[in-house]
Formats: sequence, C-alpha cells, structure tokens
Amino acid sequence: MKDDPHFIRDLPKAELHLHLEGSVEPETIQRIDPSLTLEAIREQFRYTGFAGFLKSYVWVSRKLTTPEAYALAARDLFQRLARQGVVYAEITISAGVILWKRQDFHEIYAALRNEAAAQDKVDVWWILDAVRQFGAEAARPVFELAAEYRDRGVVAIGVGGDEANGPALWFKDLYAAARTNGLRLTCHAGEVTDAASVWQALEIGAERIGHGIRSMDDPDLVRELRERGTVLEVCPSSNVCTGAVASWQEHPLRRMWNAGLNVVLGTDDPALFFTSVEQEYRLAAERFGFGEADLRKLAENSLEFAFRPWKLSQTP
Ligand code: ADE
Ligand code: ZN
Repeated sequence: MKDDPHFIRDLPKAELHLHLEGSVEPETIQRIDPSLTLEAIREQFRYTGFAGFLKSYVWVSRKLTTPEAYALAARDLFQRLARQGVVYAEITISAGVILWKRQDFHEIYAALRNEAAAQDKVDVWWILDAVRQFGAEAARPVFELAAEYRDRGVVAIGVGGDEANGPALWFKDLYAAARTNGLRLTCHAGEVTDAASVWQALEIGAERIGHGIRSMDDPDLVRELRERGTVLEVCPSSNVCTGAVASWQEHPLRRMWNAGLNVVLGTDDPALFFTSVEQEYRLAAERFGFGEADLRKLAENSLEFAFRPWKLSQTP
C-alpha cells in the first residue's frame, strides 16, 4: 500500500457524513460572490472551538443565496468526490438553515438534483437535516419536506447543530413519523456532549450516529451499539478542528475500531476542516495505525452501511 500512491483513491468508497454547506471551498465562494477576495473568505474559515466553527458554517451557508449558488457548490463537490474514488454519496443539506434563510427549498432542491443527474460518476442521495437548537416545531417542516421528496432522492433525515442545546428526545415524534414515512434515520450525537446524548439518539431510533465519539466513555453503550449494529460516522479531522477532542492522540477512532463497532469515515465539512476523503483514510493509516486490510474494510463498510445499495458491478 505504501508503494502505491493511488491505493486509497482506487478503493471504491462511499461518503456518508458530508454536509453540502461545509464542503464549499473558498474558490467556489469567490465564483458565487466575486466581490470577495480569497483572503477575506479564508479569514471566515478561521475559528476557535465548536461554537466558532458553527459561526463559520453559518457564514458559508449565507453565501449560498440562490439555487444557482447551491448548484455550483454541488457541481464542484461531485467533481472532487469523483476524483477521490467516491462512487456513492449521501450528502446532507441543511434544510433547516435554508428555511431559516427564508429561501425556497423546492427551487434549491430541484437545482441540486439537476446537478446530480448531470454527472454519472457519483451515485448521489440526499439527507435533510434540521437544526436541533431551533427546536422541534422549526424541525417539523424539514421532516415534511423529507417525506415529500422521499421517492425523489431523499433517503434520510438527521439533526445537527448545537447538541448541547437541543437534546435528541425533542425530536422523538418526528423521528417516529419519518420512519413510518419510509425515511432512514441518522442523528449527530456524542460529538461535543456525552454518552447520554447517544443513548437518546438510540431511543429515537437512529440507525446511524454522526460522530458518536463520546460513546467510548460508557462501556454499556459500546455493548449496546455493537449488539444493535449501529453505525458510527467518525470524522477525525472534524473532531480535532472543532476541539471535540483535545488532540489527535485523544481521538478514540482506534478504540472504536478495536471495540468491534461499525465504523465508517466521514469528512463532515471538508472545506472548513481542510480535509478530503482520501486524507481521512491517510490519517487513519498514519495516525491510528490502520493497515491495508483495515482501510479496505473501512471502504467496504462505507458501501455496506449506506442507506441504499451500491453494487460493485456498477463500475467506478
Ligand atoms: N453541521 C455541520 N457540521 C456539523 C457538526 N460537525 N456537528 C453538528 N452539526 C453540524
Ligand atoms: Zn456533521
């Protein structure tokens, strides 16, 4: 593997934890708003801590002022994914933020679907995400939109944002209805708070957990996650950049892997975390001692735990 610089790229992979808004590179933002210098944009990508990161995320989101801007962001993202051997992606759209910005979700979603259909390298599906600190009433229209578009590209719902100020249990009824509507369920949890937050995510029916790194503080929870086969979408660079972990040494990826949990790697917000899918795999090797067989298994996991089947016969 070490001898082959293309080993990671050539593994067929899925990206399951990726926010569209957090994937917009400074160059793309400049094409959307040419009045901004790259330096000024990069300045907005500097932040401290999780709260600072959320502010940068909102700043980027506010730059996406039109369906065309969303489409451009998606086009650039699909190209980057394809170049890295990503054959399947479930991309999270912050529908809660779109509604908060008082934009027309239908127009934006139509533009995004058009872009996805205009390329054939990446099998693209969408996850609609509500903002947890806005509460359940603000989340309701997001869940309704997801149900409306379930047969048209939306596979799942999730909640993200400020975990400390929006417990998963607030969304229990919405999750139950989403499941009845045939949507799959994921939930950010155990990223910046604690294992109790992951228990709540399980209680509302989450099949996959965004991050879940705090689970390792609770052996009963680790056992439960293993028995249920819950998938943990682990995003190491994200956790280091937001301060969710104090250092690379403290990141529990290796312990999660050794505990036999169903782990997949994600980039979360690659532009804001200065990373890529290939880089997360490289970091797994270099910082966490993952060998060639482990990296292959991570790539296989990513396709296996996708909400839709992707067959290897679909040649990359
Ligand atoms: N939205 C985008 N990235 C996020 C993260 N890492 N945690 C919670 N919400 C998010
Ligand atoms: Zn995320």
